[in-house]
Amino acid sequence: MSLAGRRTRLGRGLGLALALGLAVALAWGGLVWARAPVTVRVLMPAPFADATAELVDAFNRGQRNVRLAVTRGPFETESVSDLAISSLLLGDSPYDLLLMDVTWTAKYAAAGWLLPLDDWLGPDALAPLAPGAREGNRIDGRLWRVPLVADMGLLYWRTDLMDEPPRTPAELVAVSRDLQRRGQVRWGYVWQGRQYEGLSCVFLEVLHGFGGTWGPVGPGFGLDSAAATEAATWLRSLIDTGVSPPAVANFAEPEALQSFEAGEAAFLRNWPYAWQELQGSGSRVAGKVGVTTMVAEPGRSPGATQGSWGLSVLAGSRHPAEAVQALQALTGPASQRRLVERWGYTPTLTALFDDPELVAQRPLLPVLRAALEDAVLRPINPGYAQLSDIVQRQLSGVITGDTAPGKAMARAGRASRQLLEASGQRAASGREVTP
Ligand code: GLC
Repeated sequence: MSLAGRRTRLGRGLGLALALGLAVALAWGGLVWARAPVTVRVLMPAPFADATAELVDAFNRGQRNVRLAVTRGPFETESVSDLAISSLLLGDSPYDLLLMDVTWTAKYAAAGWLLPLDDWLGPDALAPLAPGAREGNRIDGRLWRVPLVADMGLLYWRTDLMDEPPRTPAELVAVSRDLQRRGQVRWGYVWQGRQYEGLSCVFLEVLHGFGGTWGPVGPGFGLDSAAATEAATWLRSLIDTGVSPPAVANFAEPEALQSFEAGEAAFLRNWPYAWQELQGSGSRVAGKVGVTTMVAEPGRSPGATQGSWGLSVLAGSRHPAEAVQALQALTGPASQRRLVERWGYTPTLTALFDDPELVAQRPLLPVLRAALEDAVLRPINPGYAQLSDIVQRQLSGVITGDTAPGKAMARAGRASRQLLEASGQRAASGREVTP
């Protein structure tokens, strides 16, 4: 064999080896590339970032394609929404998923910030949910949000001080005053009276109990009604008569809870999460607390303001498939069960309310389910944050004694109408049609 021939063969051999090496390297690189997980970022209010930490860890350990990264937002609904909105307005939000309060959905959907979920989750995505928990997720026929936990306003009462909870506003006042007179409690009823979203939630329940509605009924959005004035008058009278401390004007959920937990009051308005706290070692009322729905005038049905937090995918997400995968894992039965067992949150899935083992662990579940059936929604409207702000402002004037209830409610009605007219908005229904 000539030298030239050997060189050629050598050359060919080398070329082949190189090509092979390159192919292996490319394939390996491709594999490594395919394996690099996609990061899905989610913004949550602080309490939910804490409560879901172990679920997020389990999700991240359970598969290699997606890494879920949680940003721990502020505590209160308005502040979390402000944070989310400022990132959305800047045009390039770092988030793929948002844990959203039920009241944000209409605005975010109208602004085009959310991905409709129907194509990803199918038409029956809400079918496994308890009826009250289905509300407020589908707007204008499209699904924007899947709830992770349900929430509803409840009346907590002291089982060591009475046999039955009061059913009417007058009964609540009578029982409170009697207990106060006998020196058994300092205050009758503690609730959220600060000028923030919690006050709108309190008001809606009382308004409902007086037979009123907050929403597109009549020219003043339901606020220029006799029922609205009666509701505001009742809240103010609680302070005037000393049933509620003047400090309720500065109470959000934690302050009201603290007062009741210290044994200061006979009644508390709060969400289901409070139950677990009230049974804790720091509580003076552990084992002495009952739960029911808010009082209502005779012949009226009680209302429980529907809260709830749910996941939505942002329209700008670069990884919608992975974001939907994470959404399904976090809102699925195993996650919800853990949130119930460990943190005392309320599930949204009917199967969990029906689960005998879970009900044995959490005897409150049937009460919560019944309260969910009494759920009343805050207006489903893209301008909800402003509508709520109007109500909070006017009520705050009533609570501090600066404005007469009738005047405040007439103003709230006028301002709501002007707001809706000026923005050309209409009220969306958001209500699930349940057979
Ligand atoms: C709870 C409710 C939410 C409500 C908020 C008001 O988080 O789930 O819907 O807006 O309380 O403080």
